[in-house]
Amino acid sequence: MPAAKRSASAASVLALTAAGRRAPRARLCLRLAAPLSFLLLLAALLRTQPPSAPPAAPPPSTGPAKVAFLFLVRAGVPLDFLWDAFFRNGEEGKFSVYVHSAPGFELDRTTTGSPYFYGRQLARSVKVAWGEPTMVEAERMLFAAALEDPANQRFVLLSDSCVPLYNFSYIYTYLMVSPKSFVDSFVDKTEKRYNPSMSPVIPKDKWRKGSQWVTLIRRHAEVIVGDKHVLQVFRRHCKMVVTKALLGRKPNYRRLGFGLRRKQILKGATRMEHDCIPDEHYVQTLFSIKGLENELERRTLTYTVWNQSSDPKDKMTWHPMTFEYETASPEQINSIKVSLQILFWYLFFYFIGL
Ligand SMILES: *[C@@H]1O[C@H](CO)[C@@H](O)[C@H](O)[C@H]1NC(C)=O
Ligand SMILES: *[C@@H]1O[C@H](CO)[C@@H](O)[C@H](O)[C@H]1NC(C)=O
Repeated sequence: MPAAKRSASAASVLALTAAGRRAPRARLCLRLAAPLSFLLLLAALLRTQPPSAPPAAPPPSTGPAKVAFLFLVRAGVPLDFLWDAFFRNGEEGKFSVYVHSAPGFELDRTTTGSPYFYGRQLARSVKVAWGEPTMVEAERMLFAAALEDPANQRFVLLSDSCVPLYNFSYIYTYLMVSPKSFVDSFVDKTEKRYNPSMSPVIPKDKWRKGSQWVTLIRRHAEVIVGDKHVLQVFRRHCKMVVTKALLGRKPNYRRLGFGLRRKQILKGATRMEHDCIPDEHYVQTLFSIKGLENELERRTLTYTVWNQSSDPKDKMTWHPMTFEYETASPEQINSIKVSLQILFWYLFFYFIGL
């Protein structure tokens, strides 16, 4: 990739949750295809378990606890050089890296400039379709792989558009001192994605929505990997349906920024079906069913912006603003850090506004 192009995309940053609530459609963006999101992240321990085994107590760890950085990407990791700098300033032995990419894609000297990513792709992966349950399956594969290392104690899910906003030591400490997972999760009274056929496995009052980008403690990652029933219901009843009305009269798929399968669109055009985006509901709803909500900090650590772009192109897509070289100066990044401190209050007022 030419250097100039690289630095522009490098600076692209990430995308946010609060504004997304205001525009439920725009929230569709919080998925793999989402362009740049900024992230703060996080860390690490237990034993290899088959996905269906009940969680066991973590064995004693010999080394320091690790933060597992889980990258859910389309192919390579475009911002690998930024992450490389981040990991280089980190402490060896306090983090691990896993990448879920398209089947067959390998991370080596020809596909990444950062040794931290060499060979870090999962041995097994699925072909992920935007808005389909495969997105959630890919997430689970990342959690399952990272659980194999007993030192991994915190699990940070990241897209290929995320960059770290803070340095390694700050993020490591931030995550390790929190005994809770960070999961944006709320009840959206305006959406109609809950399908009564999901009952009784998923009761209506347990249905939740939130950002796909979560940071989990080990026990919660085990809950996800151990779940079969709720996922099964999602596979059956929670799929994305793209209607022609949604796409507009002359949809420009390229501009929308993701590949939709022809089948998805035709289906939506001819039939009234529930439109449901699994990755915006699965983890949140599963934790609510399992009674874990009091173990969550109900916010994501990924910052995104949905409505501040002056580029009309961004307004046309289902994606949050892409931070570019000009919109990611040190001053701008600092102001984002300051705004993160008021994010909690911002959300709070929004809920009052409901
Ligand atoms: C990391 O960032 C924190 C806060 O932003 C700062 O106080 C600390 O000195 C930084 N540490 C390193 C090793 O750069
Ligand atoms: C973005 O949305 C927020 C909340 O609605 C609003 O306060 C802010 O002014 C908007 N920013 C722009 C640039 O439109």
